[in-house]
Amino acid sequence: MDTEALIRQARTILDTNWNGQFTKPAPSLYPHQWNWDAGFIALGNAYHSMTRAMDELRHLFRGQWQNGMLPQIVFGDDPQARYFPGPDFWQAHRSPHAPAGVATSGISMPPVHGFVLWEMYQIAEDKTVARAFLKEMYPKVLALHRYLYQHRDPEGEGLVYIRHPWEGGTDNSPIWDAALARIDIAQLDIPPYERKDLQNPKAAEHRPTQQDYDRYVYLVDLFRQRDYDDERIYADCPFLIQDPLFNGVLSWSNEALIKIGSLIGEDIAEPMQWHELTIWSMNEKLWDEEWGIYNAYDLRAQEIIPVETSSGFMPLCGEVPDQEQAEAMLRTLESAAFGGRPEETWLCPTYSLLAEDVNFQKYWRGPVWINLNWLLYRGLLRYDMEEMAERVKQHSLQLLDAHGFFEYFDPRRTAAGEGGCGTDTFSWSAALCLDFLLRESLA
Ligand code: DGY
Repeated sequence: MDTEALIRQARTILDTNWNGQFTKPAPSLYPHQWNWDAGFIALGNAYHSMTRAMDELRHLFRGQWQNGMLPQIVFGDDPQARYFPGPDFWQAHRSPHAPAGVATSGISMPPVHGFVLWEMYQIAEDKTVARAFLKEMYPKVLALHRYLYQHRDPEGEGLVYIRHPWEGGTDNSPIWDAALARIDIAQLDIPPYERKDLQNPKAAEHRPTQQDYDRYVYLVDLFRQRDYDDERIYADCPFLIQDPLFNGVLSWSNEALIKIGSLIGEDIAEPMQWHELTIWSMNEKLWDEEWGIYNAYDLRAQEIIPVETSSGFMPLCGEVPDQEQAEAMLRTLESAAFGGRPEETWLCPTYSLLAEDVNFQKYWRGPVWINLNWLLYRGLLRYDMEEMAERVKQHSLQLLDAHGFFEYFDPRRTAAGEGGCGTDTFSWSAALCLDFLLRESLA
């Protein structure tokens, strides 16, 4: 593998997708700024353009709502951009909290920003500038976490719920199936809409189904009809899920807020409380001793969602499990469900390979994604699981090298045809490739 060439290609993609204000996740399919994408992209850019990395996050947080909510999309102003749902559909201005003069969606995404800031600080050569940036951003990220704990954790458990699959970031994950199936679209009024994501015929095959979209749209309509009022949505929304990926990432970012707050001389009592409670509750409520993995919890049905996805490994990155639990997770990862025989499987499939309905090329229902691999890699390193961490890293790099900077990849090494799925020139695949390759060079 020519790692120098990979680095060059990754940088070119990030340069090409930068529009002077933010980096598009992919030029045609995702022409605006996405929340967790921006975090991963800033991290990759930090290696060669810290200024751009900082501008990326500044642009994202311009869209932060006055109640702290950080939207999943901050819309750019390109009139050629084709994306559904756009600002007219979201009608975010119905909320008194939406920012004036910035068009955004009305839901959030996994809160990666705390740990991204901390990583950027590690990468930065000029620590004075980097520290000033931490000072600028810390209150904004703190406000986001405060929003999550105040408005998305009604029982005060330390577990934050998502109310739309897009908030989880893993849009059509099988985790959501049962909750979405309870939305009986035949009985409901779904506002008319036109999908724009099916224009690329290759990507279209891998995208969520029409039934998925009807439900996504139904939920957005429910939110806007309630003027994005958290309490009213909580009362009526059929989809409320505590997800181990979202809460695992939150935990890592809580930890980062504690480190940043200490560095810049802030009172860190609040993030410390959040951090302790979230870890405790994830272990009490979401840990599955039998499977050696974390589950999601359906707050509406009041039950665990017993579906084996790689989201259940993500609490490793926030150091949520103890060493014994992490070792059980490693065994699950090595089992036929996820890793199995290394010569047959690219790590890490997003859905158990043993599931009857696993689909190796369909978005979040089986394919390998570089961001989840990167989170898993970082998580494994925290438990000194060097060998598996290295395998996850090498598989990620080999996939990128063999197929290009696709959005996601078929996990079968023996897969016939193309292994790269979705859109190509995907920004976070490029950004995290840079971190995989350049991180070790830091002093
Ligand atoms: C999409 O449009 O597919 C995005 O994932 C939503 O965030």
